[in-house]
Amino acid sequence: MGIEYNTSKILQRFYSSMKNVILIGFMGVGKGSVAREVTQNSDYMTIDTDDLIESLENRKIKHIFESEGEEYFRKLEKRVAQWLETSVQNTLISTGGGFYKQKNLKKIATVVFLDSPFDAIIKRIKKHPNATNKLKKRPLLKDLKKAKELYEARRPEYLKLADIVIDVTNKSAPECSKELLKKVKKHG
Ligand code: S3P
Repeated sequence: MGIEYNTSKILQRFYSSMKNVILIGFMGVGKGSVAREVTQNSDYMTIDTDDLIESLENRKIKHIFESEGEEYFRKLEKRVAQWLETSVQNTLISTGGGFYKQKNLKKIATVVFLDSPFDAIIKRIKKHPNATNKLKKRPLLKDLKKAKELYEARRPEYLKLADIVIDVTNKSAPECSKELLKKVKKHG
């Protein structure tokens, strides 16, 4: 009886339609931290599109940009997006800041935009104990003037795509996680 009960619980969880959730937002806004927090406080497992790309290529994003260029990297993102659509369920997906451009985003998941002003994002990165590394590993953050322009261009696009928006400014990862789970539940 115990075994039957457990099996049915497992099957229930497997088949219950917990829609994927995808986190979009600018570099350094905290998508990874929020994803890790949500996983610890819910049934969601989490994956990260940059991690998937680094495994696919067996090298760091920074090196992919340096040796093959951005266009090649975007093709890898497209490959990951196709795989996510066909093969991933019940998962919280955190993404690189440019992944939102994938055409099938809405088919993959409920889209959650983590929002914060540019200056607050940079401040957040700089106060991290590993700040130098955080900046170094992101080729598109090398030039802060250009990064700000990119931010200004992208923010309206993030907002347009979002099913849910979370202002993460001055909030801890547990606070953001709680808000996310509440809003996702309400969104259905
Ligand atoms: C990028 C963001 C990065 C990474 C790549 C490109 C972007 O991820 O995917 O450097 O276009 O904004 P993070 O948002 O995790 O920094």
